[in-house]
Amino acid sequence: MRILSGIQPTGTLHIGNYLGSVKQWSDMLNDSPEIEAFLMVVDLHAITVPQDPAVLRRKIYELLAIYLAAGFNPEKDNIFVQSQNPDHPYLGWIFNCITPFGWMERMTQYKDKKQKMEEYQNIVSVGLFDYPALMAADILLYDPDMVPVGADQKQHVELTRDIAERFNNIYGETFKVPEFRTNKETTNILDLQNPDKKMSKSDASAAGRIDLMDTPQGIQDKLKRAVTDSDNHVAYDPEKKPGVSNLLAIFSSATGKTVEELAQAYDGKGYGQFKSDIADAVVAFLSPLQEKINTYLSDLEQLDRIVNNGNERARELSSQKIALVADKMGLYHDGKKI
Ligand code: TRP
Repeated sequence: MRILSGIQPTGTLHIGNYLGSVKQWSDMLNDSPEIEAFLMVVDLHAITVPQDPAVLRRKIYELLAIYLAAGFNPEKDNIFVQSQNPDHPYLGWIFNCITPFGWMERMTQYKDKKQKMEEYQNIVSVGLFDYPALMAADILLYDPDMVPVGADQKQHVELTRDIAERFNNIYGETFKVPEFRTNKETTNILDLQNPDKKMSKSDASAAGRIDLMDTPQGIQDKLKRAVTDSDNHVAYDPEKKPGVSNLLAIFSSATGKTVEELAQAYDGKGYGQFKSDIADAVVAFLSPLQEKINTYLSDLEQLDRIVNNGNERARELSSQKIALVADKMGLYHDGKKI
């Protein structure tokens, strides 16, 4: 059983990303050691919109440190950086050539991002449009059984399945069609300022999210200012009390207690104490993780070695797939004569 996923080294990873994806994957691997994982830092996807080079470089290392701190085992799990393996853009190009334009045009994430780029008066790059072909390559190079991703990536994984099937139909069985699994929505954590939308790592304002690297004081302040409602009564009711319910969900994730248990414990206590106790719980939950992340970041050469190992193992597999693809399509590759 093989799983594969990737995260973009952009924005600031927040507690919702961590609980909603990274942590779930590492728990799954710890529970089932027979699962083999491919975990990527997808820096080539990050540059589909403008990036500051120095920031990007830093974010790549940060994400590697976060993977390791979350408990992935670099001896067994293949942790690597997408741009280190040219097989990804190579296969991405091939997929460009077999994917109908109309399939890409339907992607809703592209439409959203295009609109954002236009609002900020940035260019809408061809890469932004074409991003799912590269994502399909990331996946199909390694024949994973399953691709765990957030719900916003469902359409891209479906497109990947369609591309795999199309290639297989034209050229014969080449790619495994992967299963799709969304991360558990129980940990769907909302924005502290606008609890009607998800906590977002790309939101310009940091006030709505708890970043993985936030200081204890920063966490206290953000929770203090979190939007609630005026009845000063702690209860779990996502419809009528979205702010308070979201705080309960965060509290629950940080402590392992259920939202019901916590709601009962704070029944009649008002929001002040409630918020300050949540902040303490979040700090207690994040500090050991932050310590590990910082330890990894203090030795970038060790991170380089881990990436190189992961990349070598990834490339062993991907190069076999590329040889097969070239062979099926009639592209030049060494040792194959007419
Ligand atoms: N597009 C994904 C996102 O923005 C990241 C990604 C790139 C990915 N390649 C992937 C996820 C391959 C899973 C598998 O979240």
